[in-house]
Amino acid sequence: MRWWDIAPVMRLELELFPEDAWSAGMFWSELAETHPGGTRHFTVATAPDGAIVGYAGLMAVAGEGDVQTIAVDVRHQGSGLGAALLADLIREAARRGCAELLLEVRVDNPRAQRLYERFGFEPVGIRRGYYQPANVDALVMRLDHPSIEPKDLKETRHG
Ligand SMILES: CC(C)(COP(=O)(O)OP(=O)(O)OC[C@H]1O[C@@H](n2cnc3c(N)ncnc32)[C@H](O)[C@@H]1OP(=O)(O)O)[C@@H](O)C(=O)NCCC(=O)NCCS
Repeated sequence: MRWWDIAPVMRLELELFPEDAWSAGMFWSELAETHPGGTRHFTVATAPDGAIVGYAGLMAVAGEGDVQTIAVDVRHQGSGLGAALLADLIREAARRGCAELLLEVRVDNPRAQRLYERFGFEPVGIRRGYYQPANVDALVMRLDHPSIEPKDLKETRHG
C-alpha cells in the first residue's frame, strides 16, 4: 500500500467501520513506518481493473506481531480476498521472525473470527469496552509461531 492508495482505502474504511473508522492521518502515520526496517507492513487487494477492494496492515515490534487492520469491500467479500490478505500478513510476520501474532476483533463479528480461526488463531482474552464510542468488547486472538504452509492456502479455497 502506497500513499496514493489512502483516498480509495478511506472510502472503504468509512463504509466498513462506520463507528470507529481510522482517519486518513492514521494511515499516513502507519505508511510512514513501512520503509525497509520499519515496524509496519501494509498491503492492498485489487480488482482486475486495478481498483482497490481490500487492505490489511501488520505491526511487528520486538518479535510480536499485531494485525492492525483487515477489510474487504462488501461487494467483493466471500471470494477469498480476506484469506489472501491475512495469509500475506502471516507470511510477513513469519519472515520478520515474530514468535506470535495477535489481534483484536469485535465480539459481535463472528465472520472475521471464523476467518482467524481457520488460520489457527485462538481466543486468549477479552478487552472490555475496547471499541468506542459503541462500547463493544474485543476478543483478543493469538497465533503462535506464525507460518503459512501451502495446505493453509488450499483450505481457504483461494488456491
Ligand atoms: C472479515 C473480512 C475481512 C473477511 O473478508 P472476505 O474476503 O469476505 O473473506 P473470505 O472470502 O476469505 O472468507 C469469508 C467467507 O467466504 C468463504 N469463501 C472464501 N472463498 C470462497 C469461495 N471461493 N467461494 C465460496 N466461498 C468462499 C469463506 O469460507 C468464508 O466463509 P465463512 O465466513 O462462512 O467462514 C470481511 O468480511 C470484512 O472486511 N468485514 C468488515 C471489516 C471487518 O470486520 N474486518 C475485521 C476487523 S477485526
